[in-house]
Amino acid sequence: MTKVITYGTFDLFHEGHYKLLERAKALGDYLIVGVTSDYFDKCRGKFNVHDSLMTRVKNVEKTGFADEIIVEEYFGQKIDDIKSYDVDIFTVGSDWIGFFDYLGEYCKVVYLERTKGISSTEIRNANNVKLGIIGNEDIVKRFVQELACVSSCELIGIYCNDEDKTILPNVTRFNYMDKLIENCDAVYVNLPLSERYAVIKNVLLSGKHVLTEFPFGDDLDKAKELIELADSKNLVIMEGLKTAYCPAFNKLISIAKSGLVGNIINVEAKFTQILADDLDTQIKIAGGSVVSLGAYPLLAIFKLLGNDYTEVKFYSRIENGVDTYSKIDFSFDGAIASGIVAINAKSEGDLVVTGTKGYIYVPAPWWKTEYFELRYEDINKNSKYFYKFEGEGLRYGIVEFIKCIKDGKKNNMFLSKEDILSEVAVLERYKNSTDVKYF
Ligand code: CTP
Repeated sequence: MTKVITYGTFDLFHEGHYKLLERAKALGDYLIVGVTSDYFDKCRGKFNVHDSLMTRVKNVEKTGFADEIIVEEYFGQKIDDIKSYDVDIFTVGSDWIGFFDYLGEYCKVVYLERTKGISSTEIRNANNVKLGIIGNEDIVKRFVQELACVSSCELIGIYCNDEDKTILPNVTRFNYMDKLIENCDAVYVNLPLSERYAVIKNVLLSGKHVLTEFPFGDDLDKAKELIELADSKNLVIMEGLKTAYCPAFNKLISIAKSGLVGNIINVEAKFTQILADDLDTQIKIAGGSVVSLGAYPLLAIFKLLGNDYTEVKFYSRIENGVDTYSKIDFSFDGAIASGIVAINAKSEGDLVVTGTKGYIYVPAPWWKTEYFELRYEDINKNSKYFYKFEGEGLRYGIVEFIKCIKDGKKNNMFLSKEDILSEVAVLERYKNSTDVKYF
């Protein structure tokens, strides 16, 4: 019996996939099809896969050509599969010519002519989301670089007050904000917090989706108003806090919630930075410590312990009228948590989740981690977890934003509207100096 194996994503299943599987089956008697897992696709740079793994598997199954379907989860798996399934022929489409020659050491390699004129990428790109940018805060250059890694999205241009045309020389400049909004489906709002509310409202009233920088705001009524406005117009509104959308952070939350370290009784998250040598520049770039960085520890605390806290207290060191080092303490029923943020001081930026059976340690910088560890009294039980973090990480949030728009999903589980409002409620308390001790 001749065993054949082939691999693919098989997203938005199309004629090219069908014909490939048909011919792969005809090469032998038994066909194994490897369908890539979502995580593996992200690791190899394929971000906007539309269909879920189950849908993609089902579509391959429906063709009736596959005798067996497996999931491809890691680099190097092909060699393992060829050996363990005793495969005679490995085949893929001609777009991969030469790439898999190294498998010739283990079995015969056949490249089948690719069906012309069709691909999942083309189908995905047929309805590109047209995105505009308003504002040019520090992060905008990184955002544009990350955007280039995301398919199904086309950058239309930028509107900003800055005269300096060298900032993003290859991006079209719009002289009027409304003209940019008119030409887009969605807008990334990258303005200082004080200017965001009015612009977001304008974008939503114009019927366009919004991705905004973190924090979402420090005024609860205004935040609610924007979210309700988006809902009433069936528009997506999302906060681009990168950690919320990253693979390792999400695995960490799932693992912690599944009780592997017992009941969570304490969460300690720190994010401290010194961006410039002098304080004035530091303040100009970052603003205060709570408003510029507080969203990160709040995310970890609320995701791990929920947002039903009984008490919150703040401690802030003030320099030149601005909070440069702050601690936010929470009490929950049966747990406590604290976040430390700084714009003009430095300490270890780690995250520690204490449980009744052990703890989770995420080394600095935990907000863009690829790695964390579960640690126990008995060190033989310790385990390490690795998940890739691509580029600057902004692409994860952009992908989710595009996905929500395309699928008509108004909320996302990574950073839901409820999560956003919990964050804003804390920042509002801080802004109003409720329960703040200065030092
Ligand atoms: N394939 C093909 N003809 C096409 C498209 C794909 O023969 N027009 C083959 C690929 O060469 C591969 C298999 O189908 O062997 C699965 O390909 P996959 O990467 O899932 O499909 P694409 O449409 O190429 O997807 P993408 O555009 O996302 O790369």
